[in-house]
Amino acid sequence: MAKSETPLLDELEKGKWPSFVTEIKKAAEKSPMANDLLHQLELSYKDRIGHWKHGGIVGVKGYGSGVIGRYSDRPDLFPNVQAFHTIRVNHPSGWFYKTDALRSLCDIWDKHGSGLTNMHGSTGDAILLGTTTDHLQTCFDDLSEAGFDLGGSGSALRTPSCCVGPGRCEWACVDSLDLCHHLTMNFQDEIHRPMFPYKFKIKISACPNDCVASIARADFSVIGTWKGDIRIDPAEVEAYASSDLNIQREVCDLCPTRCMEWDGRQLKIFNEDCTRCMHCINLMPKALRPGEEQGATILVGGKAPIVEGALLSWVLVPFMKLEPPYEEIKDLILRIQDWWSENGRSRERLGELIKRLGMRTFLRALDLPATPQMVKAPRTNPYVFFWPEDIQQEVK
Ligand code: HEM
Ligand code: HEM
Ligand code: SF4
Ligand code: SF4
Repeated sequence: MAKSETPLLDELEKGKWPSFVTEIKKAAEKSPMANDLLHQLELSYKDRIGHWKHGGIVGVKGYGSGVIGRYSDRPDLFPNVQAFHTIRVNHPSGWFYKTDALRSLCDIWDKHGSGLTNMHGSTGDAILLGTTTDHLQTCFDDLSEAGFDLGGSGSALRTPSCCVGPGRCEWACVDSLDLCHHLTMNFQDEIHRPMFPYKFKIKISACPNDCVASIARADFSVIGTWKGDIRIDPAEVEAYASSDLNIQREVCDLCPTRCMEWDGRQLKIFNEDCTRCMHCINLMPKALRPGEEQGATILVGGKAPIVEGALLSWVLVPFMKLEPPYEEIKDLILRIQDWWSENGRSRERLGELIKRLGMRTFLRALDLPATPQMVKAPRTNPYVFFWPEDIQQEVK
């Protein structure tokens, strides 16, 4: 039997999980590009180092983002991946596809690229993995023809993404799908033509379970919530009580604010103390529902560690109603981007800029009030700055 050319990768065809190696091998039967990719990857496993050159600047006419250029550092061995660019294709909100949309995407990619994809990139885009520079424009033209556009890359607004929301989830407090689509269309210019100090991401989850992890992975996080009382269906509570769910132990005792009371027959929630953590609703979805007055909390600043440390987004607007045409949230996004564009240093994320200049400066620029919900605890040091005009007022 012939000796395998990819002994290290072959190991990864064993086991139960679907193997990416098997997938690349399937693509390699049709595509010399996928075949060279497979072999370059084997070399990387052997050498324990990536075999792509640094950087790569390519694109399509009219856009400054959407394509990530990439070149092999061993084109001598793998000529078919000498150029192996990635195209980001803006996905539909919530990743809902019909098969004919996917088929047309596949047809285009079989024609122009390696046949390999990533469904999907972490930001959300459908990722078309591997094509050459001379195919970019024609591929883009075919994509446009089929109704697809590119997503974002570089110092631009990145492709917004959202949870499945009201499409399939009874906890949705806002129409994450519609809002995501709306913002994507509204900010097309900012997505396609980088104009910011650095990248900017928007993610929308329709309730605090945060299924797109917007709090950790977006500079601007929208998280659905409600005001007022959690809706209780007493009959369904009784049904849970007679099931094997221990309401006292598993629901009430785990409520973070201990605002629930269970006397064995009736469930009471002292809603003024509820922080809308979702725990009780998650455990008793048939009995409990979010309140009727729904909207979202807007949080800002989330980012990965580089440069100043990882940040989770923190509260900017505790509650905002979100209904088409979404003027208030669009206006807020624009004001934030204005301030950041004026004040941000090169490659400084929004979260870092707010940390550098302070929330008070940020809030003043946005004309928003400081509210207790913005902090977990008040400051412990006394190094407080005052606005000069406030001091004048004191003197009078
Ligand atoms: C029995 C011992 C001490 C007494 C009675 C004492 C008393 C005081 C008083 C009355 C003040 C002025 C507070 C004010 O301006 O409102 C002060 C300030 C200060 N003390 Fe002490 N102190 C003692 C020990 C120490 C020690 C051991 C240190 C440092 C190792 C220290 C460091 C300071 C500093 C840095 C300030 C200035 C704080 C500021 O201006 O914000 N003190 N102390
Ligand atoms: C090379 C060494 C140091 C430098 C350059 C330095 C510099 C300074 C400066 C510029 C200030 C602010 C003065 C102002 O209020 O305008 C200050 C304040 C102060 N420094 Fe130092 N310092 C040094 C070492 C130390 C050491 C070793 C201590 C204590 C063991 C110390 C304790 C303090 C305290 C308590 C204050 C007052 C803080 C306050 O305003 O409440 N410093 N220092
Ligand atoms: S974030 Fe909330 S509304 Fe969205 S899918 Fe998850 S549980 Fe449902
Ligand atoms: S949502 Fe969370 S905080 Fe509110 S009552 Fe349920 S468990 Fe308690």
